[in-house]
Amino acid sequence: MLIKRFGIVVTQDPHPNDLASYWMPFTANRAFAQRPRMIVGAQGLYYFSADGRKVLDATSGLYCVNAGHCNRHIVEAIKRAAETLDYAPAFQFAHPQSFELASRLSMLAPGDLDHVFFANSGSEAVDTAMKIALAYHRARGQGTRTRFIGRERGYHGVGFGGMAVGGIPGNRKAFGQQLPGVDHLRATYDRGQQAFSLGEPEWGAELADELERLVALHDATNIAAVIVEPVAGSTGCLPPPKGYLEKLCGIARKHGILVIFDEVITAFGRLGHAFAAERYGLVPDLITFAKGLTNGSVPMSGVLVTGAIHGALMEGPEHLPEFYHGYTYSAHPLATAAAMATLDVYRDGALFDRAKQMERDFGEIFLALRDAPHVADIRPIGMICGIDLVAADEGIGKRGFEAMKKAFHEQDLYVRVAADTLVVAPPLISTLDDLREIASRLQLMLKDLV
Ligand SMILES: Cc1ncc(COP(=O)(O)O)c(C=O)c1O
Repeated sequence: MLIKRFGIVVTQDPHPNDLASYWMPFTANRAFAQRPRMIVGAQGLYYFSADGRKVLDATSGLYCVNAGHCNRHIVEAIKRAAETLDYAPAFQFAHPQSFELASRLSMLAPGDLDHVFFANSGSEAVDTAMKIALAYHRARGQGTRTRFIGRERGYHGVGFGGMAVGGIPGNRKAFGQQLPGVDHLRATYDRGQQAFSLGEPEWGAELADELERLVALHDATNIAAVIVEPVAGSTGCLPPPKGYLEKLCGIARKHGILVIFDEVITAFGRLGHAFAAERYGLVPDLITFAKGLTNGSVPMSGVLVTGAIHGALMEGPEHLPEFYHGYTYSAHPLATAAAMATLDVYRDGALFDRAKQMERDFGEIFLALRDAPHVADIRPIGMICGIDLVAADEGIGKRGFEAMKKAFHEQDLYVRVAADTLVVAPPLISTLDDLREIASRLQLMLKDLV
């Protein structure tokens, strides 16, 4: 059946009569089926719901649609690619645009992060980065370096590697032993020390010294890498304390431990730069990225690595792969086309700079919600902001869940919720009026929230 809404043709019945077969990811499936939140179209800052409403997107989908939905330049590039080269084998063959995209990314990346390995999701990028770290140490005769250090409240996707170094309890507890040899730094958040900070909080740089403690415990010769998000995103936006990342990188470097910045959310403008590493004047050894790379339009991710790491692995007989790893859809032609077009849009609209210019106003607009009902803390940085609500008596996550539903059904607002934290991260094309509109809808929603 053809259905048209807001001038967009929706080719599928938006009211499927069977909600049983599709097992939704990271979703309260049974509750969803009782009152579905179906999205059938998108344009600019808005989603269009199946029940005919225009819903303001306050979280860029899942932190990926940085240039706004259905950007024409990106759409046309994907269409052209689909007509020209639907698929090229990723192993032993390639198509030219994959090299072009990798060069372009290496030019955007800081320092000597000059080589790119492509994957399809943030989770795959993280597991790829961890495997590169292991292979690198082994190639240099340091095969005892196998331990990984993540951080409490970190999120690195759902593969076994990423899950193990991640620090969100609910994502780990059902899955047994995971990877052996993993430790976690403490989370950098302490409400008593840093509530309602704008940007990087003053308190907390010394938490990076935890890495010294773990080195003392295990010895550096057993540690492969430390992985952190520059700003922890999925746990509810935790900006790094001033000086923390610099300190952490310094300690890692001193001990020959690789630093992986997981920039799946923070890359491509969210913090006012192509990569958050640049904001802190740091060059990690590896950067993982995804989401904003294609503006969310086609799945694609990757890992940037330094010349030193790449060089160490370019060894062995020339007829054999140097690194036994890859995906059928690494550098898929539709994804590379989408990514090239997305980078054009970011460049032509100066969107990273725009985010930087808006950061202060963005922060003040959302910090103004501090007196709204249930609000316990607000943490804006760049163009992302966590708004903690006090947990309801029924338990963690209940108030956040109700807030998300109320925002969608009653305020025509889509906002991502992590437990009891609302995370606002709108497209970087938003105007100040759009940001005020999001804040005002949040205020109205919170006023009525039980
Ligand atoms: C920092 C970080 N790493 C990894 C991932 C996993 O990405 P994906 O869901 O594409 O596997 C995410 C997803 O939000 C993320 O925020």
